[in-house]
Amino acid sequence: MSSEKPGSSNVVWHNATVTRDRRQQQNGHKSVILWFTGLSGAGKSSLAHAVEEQLHQLGSRTYVLDGDNVRHGLSGDLGFSDDDRKENIRRIGEVAKLFLEAGVIAMTAFISPFRAERELVRKLVPHGEFIEIYCCADIAICEQRDVKGLYKRARAGEIKDFTGISSPYEEPVSPEINVDTGTRPVEECVDEVIGLLRERGILEKV
Ligand code: ADX
Repeated sequence: MSSEKPGSSNVVWHNATVTRDRRQQQNGHKSVILWFTGLSGAGKSSLAHAVEEQLHQLGSRTYVLDGDNVRHGLSGDLGFSDDDRKENIRRIGEVAKLFLEAGVIAMTAFISPFRAERELVRKLVPHGEFIEIYCCADIAICEQRDVKGLYKRARAGEIKDFTGISSPYEEPVSPEINVDTGTRPVEECVDEVIGLLRERGILEKV
């Protein structure tokens, strides 16, 4: 049996003449993956979109891949078992990598509860181009917010494998940035993320 993956045999990688480098030059900034992780209701999506708003106003090219949206399409066939979550993150990682090639600042807002899968995505791209942003919020705060009413349903046993209640969330050990989305206003959290991008020279001319 061949050790090659079924989809990759007899397929040759095509090199584009419009390279990532040329795209970055044109954009005036580097591309990067900003990987927001945290509990449901921690504020990943709100923060990612607020960061995107700011970056867009600065003139940079951005895109947010959002858990709730991606699960309607690309990952529409997946549920919330450990294996399905792993596959969800694998797909998002591959898509984010394509955005990286496209010269875009790609933001992903998924619970991504498992350390191993986050590390796999980190290893998928060159060193320094995966920025893990831990949206840190106590579960009591997320549960109190309960924007979608899911915690209540999970506590009532109506939703199984719910992160933080009946399914684990593995906190990042050394994320590039730890943002206290549980208690701090979103504007302050945005400033921290943009500050990190500036520090790392990602925004260059914008
Ligand atoms: S992940 O674990 O695979 O990264 P993802 O971020 O895509 O999860 O989806 C999480 C969103 O799906 C939550 O914000 C919530 O709205 C919804 N959801 C539905 N069922 C569950 C569940 N069992 N656990 C967590 N989130 C759930």
